Amino acid sequence: MALYLVTGGCGFIGSHLCAALAARGDRVRVLDDLSTGSEENLLPGAELLRGDVADHALAGRAMEGVDGCFHLAAIASVQRGVEDWPGTHRANLSGTIALLDAARPRRIPVVYASSAAVYGDQSVLPIAETAPKRPLSAYGADKLGCEQHALVGGAVHGIPTLGLRFFNVFGPRQDPRSPYSGVISIFCDRLSRGEPVDVYGDGEQTRDFVFVADVVAALLAGMGAASVQAPVLNVCTGRPTSVKLLAHTIADACGLTAALRHQPPRAGEIRHSLGDPAEARRMLGLGEPRGLRQGLDEVVAWLRAGRPGLSPPRMPAGALR
Ligand SMILES: NC(=O)c1ccc[n+]([C@@H]2O[C@H](COP(=O)([O-])OP(=O)(O)OC[C@H]3O[C@@H](n4cnc5c(N)ncnc54)[C@H](O)[C@@H]3O)[C@@H](O)[C@H]2O)c1
Repeated sequence: MALYLVTGGCGFIGSHLCAALAARGDRVRVLDDLSTGSEENLLPGAELLRGDVADHALAGRAMEGVDGCFHLAAIASVQRGVEDWPGTHRANLSGTIALLDAARPRRIPVVYASSAAVYGDQSVLPIAETAPKRPLSAYGADKLGCEQHALVGGAVHGIPTLGLRFFNVFGPRQDPRSPYSGVISIFCDRLSRGEPVDVYGDGEQTRDFVFVADVVAALLAGMGAASVQAPVLNVCTGRPTSVKLLAHTIADACGLTAALRHQPPRAGEIRHSLGDPAEARRMLGLGEPRGLRQGLDEVVAWLRAGRPGLSPPRMPAGALR
């Protein structure tokens, strides 16, 4: 039975990863400051170290005795990077360096979340790992910085790493405020209330939506592929979905009809984002990713169940038991 550290384990992707690790018999320690994550997403029985991943002493304690680390803690928001550039930099890049430094004495393997945001706006699709990196945000620049420091970690300090560039991850337990796929929960909410959904521009812009279970499969397989060469792989489906098609597929999954309300295009929005999954499939031996509709059915079932977390909600002090 191995022990894994999951930073950001009370967040959306982290909570699914913790559940998958426990299901295969591993032990889990979580480091999370609960800034966007929630204790309701903490795997029951998992140890929680509450605090900032950029705190060197805490990162060192968190790494004690672990066999590997999945590093997912980050402020996963382009907008937050605009509002608080130094603050997001501390969490997103300094936090990663603190963690790599803590992995250094025992050369603990680290699988970390990078992002499709490192690519910026690309004209050649699908985007392969070798495409030029042109981040358009502090968030994307910091994720690229993580990849660069992982290279240093391997070359100078002998730390095995693997970076995974997630595209638009979706699934149950996603915060509707997520800039990636929060649109899915928002569309579900509005449609189920009989309201139209807002589509910016013509709705033909496309994204590569990857279901969270497929992301977890890549993370788990990735631990064995971490190396001092600091490889980096896409985590995506290679299937484009337009925002319009997304709205209609969600409506279908909810048993409703979608009414679209067109809004002016959003300035600076990337028109098409589509990843090439071939290299990750080859290196990690991954199967076919889940289809959009299949994943959406799970999201709709979760929404209908009242958005449960992994742990039952805590009773307020003094509540009747
Ligand atoms: N969701 C996506 O589509 C997507 C796409 C690309 C990359 N990513 C990356 O995947 C990772 C997980 O994203 P998510 O969607 O689960 O986001 P999330 O916000 O649900 O999870 C992030 C977790 O990290 C914690 N956290 C934030 N700052 C911290 C800090 N300084 N110290 C300790 N904990 C901290 C939060 O409380 C939260 O629990 C992030 O690194 C994100 O950048 C996500």
